[in-house]
Amino acid sequence: MTTDSGMTDEAARKAGLEVKPAAGYIGAEIGGVDLAGDLDDAVVAAIRAAVLRWKVVFFRGQRLDHAGHMAFARRFGEIVELPRRGKASPPDFPGIETTADRLELGGRFGMEHDEWLRRRRHTLLRGWHCDHGARVDPPAATILRAETVPPYGGDTTWSNLAAAYAGLSAPLRRFVDGLRAEHRLGVGYQPRPGDDAYVRHLLDRQVASLHPLVRVHPETGERILYVNGYYVEQIAGLSRPESAAILEMLLEQAVRPEYTVRFRWEPGSVAFWDNRATMHLAPGDTSQLDHPRIMHRVMLAGDVPVGVDGTASEPITGSSPGHW
Ligand SMILES: [Fe+2]
Repeated sequence: MTTDSGMTDEAARKAGLEVKPAAGYIGAEIGGVDLAGDLDDAVVAAIRAAVLRWKVVFFRGQRLDHAGHMAFARRFGEIVELPRRGKASPPDFPGIETTADRLELGGRFGMEHDEWLRRRRHTLLRGWHCDHGARVDPPAATILRAETVPPYGGDTTWSNLAAAYAGLSAPLRRFVDGLRAEHRLGVGYQPRPGDDAYVRHLLDRQVASLHPLVRVHPETGERILYVNGYYVEQIAGLSRPESAAILEMLLEQAVRPEYTVRFRWEPGSVAFWDNRATMHLAPGDTSQLDHPRIMHRVMLAGDVPVGVDGTASEPITGSSPGHW
């Protein structure tokens, strides 16, 4: 699969697609395709090339239902079936996870959503994550479909972690190339006084892995600055203060505005991102909006990350490759 933009553009044109970049380093809107239709192999290949090139692609005005969403996803890989999903998810479609209620996540643990978010916010960049990044084999891609969205607010932002890596100075790239970091679910959570259902949940379902700090993308060969504000606990082999200072600097690098793109959802919008080469920021303003926001997510299975020296990630607890 090529990442050369000229080739990508040509393949897209031949397949009848319009690929319109949305920002300098990341994001493109794709027009001229009905995702609910029967897609030619050439169209699928052109979309895949655009995802690899632009890291996240957007489609608007689509009319996918659950079956269509899964059929589209299946053209690109194996769909992850989560053993546990929120109550809004459709029971007949195990590959689809639905978020319908901003109270839902915190509410599961007896908290208002805002309190839950606040207790988890151990750094200002806490909301930036890749999906299921504490697993040893995080999903390769996510395909998110908007059903109902507020008239304003609720935007999602993505960042290109290949560009963030390339933008580091050469000595720093050499330094981070050889490092690994522990990624863990629930990093920095501030427990409630007394019994805290979320703490119990975290203890019951610990997930942690040792990932390379720089992973080599399995399809493009690009080096990816594999950090995020949500799961990364500690750079292995460094002292706590060294790790904290370096992580803060790397995260600042990874969220530099020029490496990001922000998407304004409409009903029928679909975003398809490479979960290996990006992180994304879930919206933090939805509690301001007295409006439902119903989104459906399908994820594609991913492989175990590999570092620059060829060393693969290792599970610490709670996940094994291919088993959800
Ligand atoms: Fe996410």
